Amino acid sequence: MSGRRILISPSILAADFTRLGDEIKRVEEAGADMIHIDVMDGHFVPNLTMGPFIVQAVRRVTELPIDVHLMITDPEKFAPAFISAGATYIAFHREAAPEPKRVIEHIRRARGKPGLALNPANPAESIEPYLELIDLVVVMTVNPGFAGQGFMAGVMPKVQQIADWKKRHSLGFLIQIDGGINRTTAGTAVTSGADVLVAASAIFKADDPGAELGLIRQAAEAALG
Ligand code: DX5
Ligand code: ZN
Repeated sequence: MSGRRILISPSILAADFTRLGDEIKRVEEAGADMIHIDVMDGHFVPNLTMGPFIVQAVRRVTELPIDVHLMITDPEKFAPAFISAGATYIAFHREAAPEPKRVIEHIRRARGKPGLALNPANPAESIEPYLELIDLVVVMTVNPGFAGQGFMAGVMPKVQQIADWKKRHSLGFLIQIDGGINRTTAGTAVTSGADVLVAASAIFKADDPGAELGLIRQAAEAALG
């Protein structure tokens, strides 16, 4: 075994919202490392989801880090409300931020951990100047907007490139892969350099979400040898 611990961040996008507290407890007991919350505004992506109110509710049932993924056009405006609601990491899309440094500083000032997310078509170079300022890079392996899409393996060279920069410059950010992660795709993601795997459908649509989370981690760590 390589000994590299892979972090798992279940996305509640595919959870049963009539029993959200139980769903979170279940993955927490199964060893989830953080909870991923997908925020969509109907502008940046063609779907609408959750606001700070849901983050507040999740914060009441768990002490795990909450990893908020903002898929919205105005991240600077809304980030502080998510941090006050209990978010730990706040990732916003490079495509939605002409001046990422401003947003990063804004998030730091509000005592959040800033992250940058990249759509599949966006090259790593677009976030390179900001890597030393952030705590998380979210590499999308689906086009953002919906759970349950297929993993885009063609994004892996970009993950390797970001992992190489991280190593070469001894940077501290986590590399998170988001979209289409399951027992089959987890191995490729971590051998390419992922530290954190997000999974919505694979975990919450499984008969036993807790067991499935363990199997995804097992598959990932086995691939690292
Ligand atoms: C997609 C979201 C993802 C999504 C992942 O826009 O950012 O976090 O919930 O869903 P699965 O794991 O089902 O691909
Ligand atoms: Zn996400």
